[in-house]
Amino acid sequence: MLKTRLTEMLGIKHPIIQAGMGPFSNNNLCVAAANAGVLGLLSTSGLFNKNDQPWVYNSFCDTGEANRDDDMATVLETVLKRTHRLVKDKGGVFGPNVMVSAELKDKANVMIETAIKAREENPEMKNTLKVMYTSAGDPMGWGEKIKKAGFTWIHIVPSVRAAQRCKKAGVDVIVASGHEGGFHTHWEPLHSMVLFPAVAEAVADENTLVVGGGGISDGKTLAASLALGCDGVLMGTRFLATQESDFPPLWKQSVLDAADRGTLVARGYVGPARWLRNARSEEHARNTLQKSPGVFLGTPDSYTAMEGGMSLIDYENESIKAAYEGNKEKAMMAAGEVAQRISNMPKVDDLVNEIMKEAMAVLKSVQKFVVE
Ligand SMILES: Cc1cc2nc3c(=O)[nH]c(=O)nc-3n(C[C@H](O)[C@H](O)[C@H](O)COP(=O)(O)O)c2cc1C
Repeated sequence: MLKTRLTEMLGIKHPIIQAGMGPFSNNNLCVAAANAGVLGLLSTSGLFNKNDQPWVYNSFCDTGEANRDDDMATVLETVLKRTHRLVKDKGGVFGPNVMVSAELKDKANVMIETAIKAREENPEMKNTLKVMYTSAGDPMGWGEKIKKAGFTWIHIVPSVRAAQRCKKAGVDVIVASGHEGGFHTHWEPLHSMVLFPAVAEAVADENTLVVGGGGISDGKTLAASLALGCDGVLMGTRFLATQESDFPPLWKQSVLDAADRGTLVARGYVGPARWLRNARSEEHARNTLQKSPGVFLGTPDSYTAMEGGMSLIDYENESIKAAYEGNKEKAMMAAGEVAQRISNMPKVDDLVNEIMKEAMAVLKSVQKFVVE
């Protein structure tokens, strides 16, 4: 066992967070992760597109035993209750990952209020639905509602400056997310080796914990993150390629197939995104260079103003749909750089046990380098 301030704060067995990953859902992955003793996160981005991308919405409903005809709040309520029911006997802990970017503010509000209501109606849920995890936006202004309701609040950031803003906003656990990470990434890239210790040195104190994400997949990288000042790690891509993961089979297999330098950065809905490298994503990167060069220069541009041929966002929607349908030619799939280190598709419980065994062995073995 490894005991850190993260395991103590959340009452979880292992200092690991399973990242929320859209667009479809990770409803069943979250259950498996929570039951394996790590913090499970429910992705909620699949709930935004009932009309534009029904295959995303429907997949979210189906994997969470919710009714496709229900609205966003009712579907989320059903999934929260289901997750509670499936993790409570094993002491599992989970929370929703809510994206709070400016254009999603109203939807984020509905999600947060739905989670608050679920706990109020069934106080037993306070033992499982302990966390509110926010991402992709400014944390300022959300704290009062989240903290007043009794959640532990986690927010993810790409820089020291953003981490300092989290601290001001009252975030309990700040996730420092390196540029290696899968899907949405940063306008001004900073990688985990620099970011983790920089954020820990800047903001960690008795009330504020730092967790490292981006490039973590095994015991070695967990041990390294602890050595860099983190109280735990967040893993996305590694959990995507597991038996219980809800991702489409083509997506999971493509993570296993990723070779050396198997990802690239191109446009992804709201900004830069890391995709698995294939002919389709290479074309997307070329189009990004022409139509949205700010992705490579670190200067946000207006997505809506793009003209000429198929818009990048239509191309992305078509590519994501293709991944869902198993159409390899047209599919684009997001994943982190660490895909090239992933070559098996274990059950979540076995994966977590293996990671913990290796992390403890690494932490013990590095002591041999110390000569008194
Ligand atoms: C396929 C995929 C989808 C993701 N979708 C989301 C999302 O919808 N919202 C979000 O905040 N982060 C999303 N992420 C980022 C993860 O939450 C996490 O920060 C990242 O996976 C960590 O890096 P790693 O992949 O190297 O472990 C996604 C990541 C992946 C790989």
